Amino acid sequence: MTERHNRGLLGLSGLSRSEITRILDTAQMFSRILDRPVPSVPTLRGWSVVNLFFEPSTRTRISFELAEKRMGADIINFSASISSVNKGETLLDTARNILAMKVDAIVMRHRASGAPHFLAKHVNVPIVNAGDGAHEHPTQALLDMLTIRQKLGKLEGLKIAIVGDIRHSRVARSDIWGMTTMGAEVTLCGPPTLMPKFGEHLPARITYSLDEALADADVVYALRIQRERQDGGLFPSIREYVQNYGITQERLDVAKPDSLIMHPGPINRGWELSHDVADDPDRSVILDQVTNGIAVRMAVLFLAAGREPESINSGARA
Ligand code: NCD
Repeated sequence: MTERHNRGLLGLSGLSRSEITRILDTAQMFSRILDRPVPSVPTLRGWSVVNLFFEPSTRTRISFELAEKRMGADIINFSASISSVNKGETLLDTARNILAMKVDAIVMRHRASGAPHFLAKHVNVPIVNAGDGAHEHPTQALLDMLTIRQKLGKLEGLKIAIVGDIRHSRVARSDIWGMTTMGAEVTLCGPPTLMPKFGEHLPARITYSLDEALADADVVYALRIQRERQDGGLFPSIREYVQNYGITQERLDVAKPDSLIMHPGPINRGWELSHDVADDPDRSVILDQVTNGIAVRMAVLFLAAGREPESINSGARA
């Protein structure tokens, strides 16, 4: 049984360039629909999807929900805090009970790496991973790549610097797999304690020097400092982190003049990015990333439902 036997999306590791391109091309079609006065296309009417969130999330959950609504799907929202998971039900039992109600797909976020992969082996509907532990967050990386493609025209040959807490970041992992498959060159940068663990193979260069990472970069991607992990003593202080790895206009001098600034959100302003960098009208595409999240999630769900991209416009009110 392959990971994609049922058309869901568990991660970008293992996807081919043509599979990623197909999702991005489909997302680009949805992005044009979202720019219309009536930004919806009832192409998944009668199709039902459950958003199964076992970990707190605001923007990703809203983004999936809006994507589903824009396509006319029926939505069931489920979050762990109000569910019988608290009564001790297993993940598999929870999913089986929901599926007994004839749900067509599951969007899932879970704090355990591999949880959606486990579920995909046991249930027979598409599963879309909305973030599993520190493992993958494939729709985030796809929206990142769509944004880069729209702004710079391609991914092939670009120099992309990802800065911050790589070790705990599912966003970084999905980006590294996706971007390198698409032909970009990825450099990871941050304090040694936040770099991937020894033995983890990721197709990226590692440096502890921000100047080295930013030199000649086309894209500068800052990750959130995971404040919740500060107690772990992985770096001495926020002040020291900001001094060494905080991205300011001055430090960006070595990057390409038209380089993009990206961040998956939520931003700790003044920490990973200075205010003027976060709001830079020419370089920062952080809000474009958020907008593109809806188009990408529409594309992923649409393809998960087994629909053909050529049919998108047949249901659209132009
Ligand atoms: C990211 C996540 O949850 O993995 N955020 C998101 O999807 N909006 C990144 C993060 O929380 O640092």
